[in-house]
This record gives sequence, C-alpha cells and structure tokens, in this order.
Amino acid sequence: METPFQAEEFVNSQVREIGSRLGKEMAMIAISGGVDSTTCAAIMHRAIGSSFKPILIDTGFMRLKEPEKVRKMLLAPPLRLPLKIVRGKRSFMKALDGIENAEEKRKAFRETMYTILGESAKKERCKYLVQGTIAPDWIETKGGIKTQHNVLEQMGIKTLEKYGFTLIEPLASLYKDQVRQVARYLKVSTQISERPPFPGPGLVVRCVGRIDSRKLGVLKTATDIVERRLKDQGTQQYFAVILENQFENGELSTGIRELAAKSLSVKSDEIVVRVFLQRATGVKGDERVYGKVAGICVPETNRETLGNDVPKLIEVEGQVTSSFPELVRVLYLVDNRVRQGRYSLVVRAVSTRDFMTADVTSVSWDVLSRIARDILKAIREISCVYYDVTPKPPATVEFE
Ligand code: XMP
Repeated sequence: METPFQAEEFVNSQVREIGSRLGKEMAMIAISGGVDSTTCAAIMHRAIGSSFKPILIDTGFMRLKEPEKVRKMLLAPPLRLPLKIVRGKRSFMKALDGIENAEEKRKAFRETMYTILGESAKKERCKYLVQGTIAPDWIETKGGIKTQHNVLEQMGIKTLEKYGFTLIEPLASLYKDQVRQVARYLKVSTQISERPPFPGPGLVVRCVGRIDSRKLGVLKTATDIVERRLKDQGTQQYFAVILENQFENGELSTGIRELAAKSLSVKSDEIVVRVFLQRATGVKGDERVYGKVAGICVPETNRETLGNDVPKLIEVEGQVTSSFPELVRVLYLVDNRVRQGRYSLVVRAVSTRDFMTADVTSVSWDVLSRIARDILKAIREISCVYYDVTPKPPATVEFE
C-alpha cells in the first residue's frame, strides 16, 4: 500500500536540501500569487528566512488588477514578503503578435518570461531561480500534450547557459492536492492555499488564436463576471475563454447536428451547429490533439430544460467527439444576441483531483443564464455565450 503523503516530512526534507544547495548564494523566486509559487515562497521562508528576492512578472495577461492584489496578499502575515513587480506587458505583446498556433504562443510566452527573469536575476545578483513547477506540468509537457510555461530543464533547456540562472523546483514531485496540504501545514492564508489555479501564461491560453489588446480587454471584463458568479458554486477551476466568430462550412456541422438532434430528441432542422475555425488543445488516448470546437445551439424553447441536464449534455459531447475524431470540444449555447458580434464567450467550470483528468462541473442553468445576461449586457462585441460540456480527456482544462 502507498504511504500517505506527509506534508511535515516533505517540508523538512526540502528545507534541508534548499539550505545546503544555496549555501551563501542569493536566490530569486518567481511568484504569480497562485498556490504553487506561494507555497514555494513559504518553504524558502522556512529554509532561509527572508533573504531571497520574490519577484512577479506582470505579463499583461493576468486578471484585472491582479499583480497589485498579489503584492498585497504577500505583504500580509504570515509571509510578509516584499514582492517586486517587473512590468513586462509590452515585451509579451510584441513576442505574441500575430501568432495563431497554441504551442507557438506558449513557447513565445516561455521565452519572454525567462529572458525577463534572467535579466532580473542578473540585476539582483541571484544565481538561483526558485519556481513552483509541479508534477502535472512536466508530465504533460514531456508527454507532448502542451508546453507548460515553467518546464525547462525537463525539456533539455539549460537555464544556466541560456538565461544565467540555476533552477530550483521544490514541488516538482507533487500534485496539486499535495501542494495544498503543504500550504495548509505551513499556515499560508486560506486565500492562497485554496486559491483556484490560474495558469502561468494566464489569459494567453484563454484568448484563443491571435491576441490583440481589444480582444484581451474583452476577455478580462468577461473573466471578472464569470469568476464573480462562479466563486461559490463548488467548482474547482472556472474561467472565461474568448473565440472569434468565424466558422467553417461543411459536412462536419451537418453530421454533428444529426447526431446531437437524435441524442437530445430535438428535430434536426431546429438545431444549429457551428464549427469554429480556431482550434483548441485536447488529449485523446494520451496523445495531444489540436482539434476543432463545435457549438450546439438548440431552440430557445428547449434550451433551459436541456441545459439543466448537464450529464446528458456530457453524454452527447462523448458521442460527438468519438464519432468525429477531429473534434476536441463541444459547447452548449446558453444565450445570444440577434446581431452577430466579433466574439463568442465560453464558460468553463471543472472539478478535478490531480488535473491529469477533469470533470465538467454541473453549473445550474440559473447561474449560467445570469452570467450570459451580464456578459451580453456589458460587452457588445460578444454575441454568444456557451458552456463547455467537455471533460478532460478529450479536452484539456485550458483551451490552448
Ligand atoms: P490543462 O489545460 O493542461 O491544465 O489540462 C491542467 C492544469 O494546469 C494549468 N495549466 C498551467 N499552469 N503553466 C501553469 O502554471 C501552464 O503553462 C499551464 N497550462 C495549464 C491549468 O490551468 C490547469 O489547472
């Protein structure tokens, strides 16, 4: 039988190891305010007191006012860390300009992030960079599912040669639930230990395809609405995703329409299926798929009744994604406006233990339709609001 994870033992061994590795050298720690990086900071604090440099790179892809909120959170007890914020928005926008493909976006993000971190480490005379990479990050990156922004050494990237620092990753063997146990053991505030995850590349991976400042601004506003409405709904990770309203014409949408109509007992000519031109990341049989996304729109008269039966929608999603292997996600229309705007907005809500797989959380129709109403009222460029009914697999948690 496997021995249960012991947070105390883990912390003690990391404290010893960090102390002996660093000796008298100075270290910088990259913090995003999430549970992984902040727990790393708490371990460092235990190992070497406050003689390390906590730094947050403001990528421009965090949520509204997030860098400032994180700064305040870290200044509060028990950590009391003076976080340095480095502004990097322009460099990131420039690096991502015109890139459509999800993996290329992720690699451009990683390169910009570590170039800035390398420059900062040099300025602060730090030989070491500590970061909160956890097991699923490198497992998925090595497995070719997606390039997580914080996986370098495991992919053969020599950080000392390329960026001038040696990496220390105290949490690299842990899964998210174990990191939370460590955070609780170290008495990090619950605001941090129970914080829903937010990926390092932030809104880059939720702003599907090319990014421009208008699209990003719309996504930030929608993210705020979705997070406020979903925070007490018992879902572990929840967020908004933006897609462009560009669709393919062809047999695929007809095939999906017929299958969905049969499964949902709706007349096929009453259903509209839109297959988006933009692609999203998925995983089928442990392999990465960069696949298509379909939105199913049933008539208004049936929408609420069917929308309340989330297990049924997930079953239909399963039939659709297995019958049409080029598909990785199925979305269910919650509400729309008559005039077509530039974007569709997707609400994603999942529950998971280890993030290697994830279930769709059943959000009530009442909450979904309120979110959709708020979004359609606040943002005129958005004309459709969908609910993502795809588990992982065949989708991943994030769209890219
Ligand atoms: P996926 O999309 O791979 O997400 O199913 C699993 C979990 O990992 C988060 N995620 C990331 N976290 N850097 C991170 O720090 C990344 O590049 C990254 N990509 C995904 C995602 O939000 C989810 O919690």
